[in-house]
Amino acid sequence: MKTLLFGKGGSGKSTLTALVAKSLVEKGCNVLVIDNDESNFGLHRQLNMSLPDDFMDFLGGKKRLINKMMKSRSEEKDLNLFDDKWDFETIPDEYVVRNGNLYLMAVGKIHEFGEGCACPMGVLARQLINNIETGENDFVLVDTEAGIEHFGRGVEEGCDVLFMVLDPSYESIRLSEKMDWIVDGIDKPLYYICNRAEGDAREILCSKLPDDKLVATVPVNESIFKAGLLGNEFQFTVPEIEDISDFLINYQPK
Ligand SMILES: Nc1ncnc2c1ncn2[C@@H]1O[C@H](COP(=O)(O)OP(=O)(O)OP(=O)(O)O)[C@@H](O)[C@H]1O
Ligand SMILES: [Mg+2]
Repeated sequence: MKTLLFGKGGSGKSTLTALVAKSLVEKGCNVLVIDNDESNFGLHRQLNMSLPDDFMDFLGGKKRLINKMMKSRSEEKDLNLFDDKWDFETIPDEYVVRNGNLYLMAVGKIHEFGEGCACPMGVLARQLINNIETGENDFVLVDTEAGIEHFGRGVEEGCDVLFMVLDPSYESIRLSEKMDWIVDGIDKPLYYICNRAEGDAREILCSKLPDDKLVATVPVNESIFKAGLLGNEFQFTVPEIEDISDFLINYQPK
């Protein structure tokens, strides 16, 4: 089972990814979190893990990947970056940090000023997600950068389910409306999670979404906020997060 969380900047993608990952592990699942946001550096801290080496280095860095992409295009060949399929155990050690049944990979971070274009990241993420095989009890959670550009790069291709995270804002509502037609084009089941939504804001946000696609509404939570502010591990449970992990465990493809 592979899942991707996306949404507007600051809606809570990374927070929910970390909380859901921990909840799934508590329930006995194996979870691989793929950090596909090249700008932010907080996710590994919330999982209490060190930051793995950039997976981009596996291919010799961004420049080499760009060269490979250009070569395959000029030769009109499909770009194939991997020789064998991997499961969680066979991902090369340098690129995965493990804590019990929780695994973390980072596709690539921006380390220097002017590193530029995120396209190779998208290409690599797409191929990586496609290349990982999951067993019955294995879950891959992909945390994405803000916005929907990654859809243009096909990052969602290997995922079974997409979660859009909405905060109570006009931008999130607009983005959810856009998703109606985007999701038609990519043909993936799409579900919604409202985050930091309470009172009237919760009512308004939920009224804009189809009932049968709304998996959870996570309230403003003081523990989440504090841990997020201090870059601390999430060491608590939140009932609505349990609902999301149960949803994933019980998910039956239609
Ligand atoms: N339910 C919540 N209750 C309280 N604070 C929250 C909640 N969800 C997220 N936050 C806080 O909101 C901020 C944004 O969350 P987060 O970094 O997860 O968003 P994001 O969508 O991953 O952002 P980005 O687009 O920058 O990657 C963080 O400070 C986080 O601690
Ligand atoms: Mg984030």
